Amino acid sequence: MEAMLKMQIYNHLGQYDMSKEIYEQYQNIIPEDNVYLKNKFLNEYELSAKKFILDSKPRNLQVVLFDKCQFNCIMCNQKEKKHNYSLPEQYMEEIADLFPYLDSITWQGGEIFLWEDFVKILQNVAVYKQISQNIVTNLQNINKETIKQLSQIPNIKLIISVDGTNKETYEQIRRGSSFKKLMENINLLNKYKLKYKSDMQMHINFVILKENFNEILNIVDFAKTHNFNGITFNECISTPDYSNVFGRETRSKIERMLDFAVVKAAKENICLTIHYSSKASNIAKSENIKKDILICKLPWYKLLLGEDYTFAPECTCFKRENYYINKNKLTISDMWNSGTMQNYRKHIIGLKENKKICNSNCRLYTNSYF
Ligand SMILES: C[S@@+](CC[C@H](N)C(=O)[O-])C[C@H]1O[C@@H](n2cnc3c(N)ncnc32)[C@H](O)[C@@H]1O
Ligand code: SF4
Ligand code: SF4
Repeated sequence: MEAMLKMQIYNHLGQYDMSKEIYEQYQNIIPEDNVYLKNKFLNEYELSAKKFILDSKPRNLQVVLFDKCQFNCIMCNQKEKKHNYSLPEQYMEEIADLFPYLDSITWQGGEIFLWEDFVKILQNVAVYKQISQNIVTNLQNINKETIKQLSQIPNIKLIISVDGTNKETYEQIRRGSSFKKLMENINLLNKYKLKYKSDMQMHINFVILKENFNEILNIVDFAKTHNFNGITFNECISTPDYSNVFGRETRSKIERMLDFAVVKAAKENICLTIHYSSKASNIAKSENIKKDILICKLPWYKLLLGEDYTFAPECTCFKRENYYINKNKLTISDMWNSGTMQNYRKHIIGLKENKKICNSNCRLYTNSYF
């Protein structure tokens, strides 16, 4: 709807009064039974009115179903985990209640394809045509039959972790994984995408490490050769073995490579996202938080249900000293308006009494959530 789009643009530009005007004009015109649009409209209004307690429901969810994974990648904290977390049944029901309101849902593990009947979940959610489903996976625990089924589900984005463009680098980083298996499955995906005329998007997640930073440009070629739509370069966070600690010289080399990668990817029509601190806008720094323009909209748009009952707008919002654990087993709607989520919103609005809750190393271009 045109009015909705206008509101989003005004909110994006920080012209909140214009956005509020549109809301006043149209709020009663939207049919009562169009709960999706009504919620989205209200959500944009609440953002423009800088409300920190929301009547609107989350429009984007990220859900960690469990933390099970049999691999042991060098940058991941898998081996420190007890592998006994799985999302309580009660939340599954609440998540299902939110489907009519959602723009997107991101599914993650551990390794999500180890979840029994995961494809069934995707098929059930696909009934809600407005929802884009994002799946973060290593693509190792998936067989031909599952790939066939996936290719027939609409509106899916597979985010595949590829941290190396060859066997040596890939298997050195992704300990226990097989580069051969990865390639077989990428080829099967391309085959069945074609066969079923699938609209599935394929993206690469690449964590920048000492072992692979020289392959930053190669991964763009890899993406092109294997029909990927996009790449996200991620900075390594809280690694157990210091793979992310680069000297100043290496850091500037990485930055130059990322600059080249941007140009190369644009030529190849590959969408590039860079979550690397010196390349990001450092939006969470308090000197960037002004009252007149909301520098991040995520706390209004999104809720992450992380492992071990943690929650936040996004996983990179967590600060080590301030992990937000849902000790009281709050409902999802309680979490949405919890003190924690209010504090993120208050911080971004610039309410002075609020402590600095945002991660000062926040590397997200959150305006991409439109
Ligand atoms: C925790 S994994 C779970 C999904 C799946 N097992 C996989 O590897 O794709 C989610 C994403 O986080 C990335 N990741 C793992 N450790 C990381 C770290 N220390 N810093 C940044 N990203 C990391 C992975 O490469 C993957 O793309
Ligand atoms: S496959 Fe994913 S969850 Fe498993 S160890 Fe690697 S990054 Fe971590
Ligand atoms: S830490 Fe989270 S809420 Fe804060 S600016 Fe970054 S993405 Fe937004």
